[in-house]
Amino acid sequence: MTTEEIINTKNEAIAQIIKAASAAELEELRISYLGRSGKLTALINKLKELPPEDRKQAGLSINEAKNTLTQLLATQKNMLTQQAKSWFDPTLPGIKPKLGHKHLVSQAIDEIAKSFEQIGFSRVRYPEAEWDWYAFEGLNMPKGHPARDEWETFFVESAAHPKYGQIVLTPHTSSGQIREMQRVKNPPIRMINIAKCYRRQIDASHIPMFHQFEGLVIDKDISVVHLKGTLDFFAQNFFGTKRKTRLRPSHFQFTEPSFEVDVSCGVCDGQGCKLCKAGWLELGGAGMVHPAVLKNGGVDPTKYSGFAFGWGVERTYMMKSGLSIPDIRLIYSSDLRFLKQF
Ligand code: FA5
Repeated sequence: MTTEEIINTKNEAIAQIIKAASAAELEELRISYLGRSGKLTALINKLKELPPEDRKQAGLSINEAKNTLTQLLATQKNMLTQQAKSWFDPTLPGIKPKLGHKHLVSQAIDEIAKSFEQIGFSRVRYPEAEWDWYAFEGLNMPKGHPARDEWETFFVESAAHPKYGQIVLTPHTSSGQIREMQRVKNPPIRMINIAKCYRRQIDASHIPMFHQFEGLVIDKDISVVHLKGTLDFFAQNFFGTKRKTRLRPSHFQFTEPSFEVDVSCGVCDGQGCKLCKAGWLELGGAGMVHPAVLKNGGVDPTKYSGFAFGWGVERTYMMKSGLSIPDIRLIYSSDLRFLKQF
């Protein structure tokens, strides 16, 4: 027996052990090299045949080979067990990613748009950064008119246009009225304009960025009766069949006559509760389009008449949910505990 023979046996064993694909194969290899009749054990048995001067070196080499193979067998067995544990099992049920849903304002916008589309309104959107003229002057609110104060407007620093004036962040969707008249040119018009509006306001019922939906209908012989019918249809479609609307006299420069629209309270069924004022909740403004506005939009007020209404999306949605949204600012708080409820 030579040292070379020992090294060759060891190398042959290593080559097979690292290729072994299972614990059973490793066990077979252990037996075939280190078992009672294994190849390395056979070499140990041959030690006594060697001359005494060679026996010590050969003994050390065999011992080293035995330790190396024992350790390698243990390492490989460990590795195969780990691999078996992390093996991908396609039959196990997967981990489903959490699904989000539309924000409640987007849900409300979809619902409002659907309601009006059922009665022939076309959805449009007009600029959020708008000329002063479309937001005010064209709507019968000349420069410096005190009625403008209510709209607490953000003005964009820009050079003023000789006709259209400065750029503003539109404070109401009524700025889309004249744009729609200019787009359609010849009535009939049935517009529903749903868009962002901006005002310098913030408290439990006001936010600086909010959404409004604006209805505009222009045709021959349009009267308050058509306005009331449209409002009732929407209230019953959006809030529930038991709900009613009422018109209270009000004032807007761009409508004549003008109204505040109320809807009967869904929490107390019109009886009066802490959410409402004697059974009614205020929805927003409405009225018959002022002849000056029709003229500014290129529509002949002697031939055509129309009605318009404009309400806040967030506030309308809050009314639907009854008492569950006590502060409008919660809607934009990005708090998932709140948003998941809708
Ligand atoms: C208007 O903006 C008129 N343009 C409505 C109108 C249209 C009248 C067509 C006649 C004909 P008002 O300023 O009241 O009106 O606003 C209408 C609604 O917008 C309010 O009732 C409210 O629901 C919502 N709103 C107004 N300001 C805010 C705000 N800062 N935050 C949240 N909602 C608001």
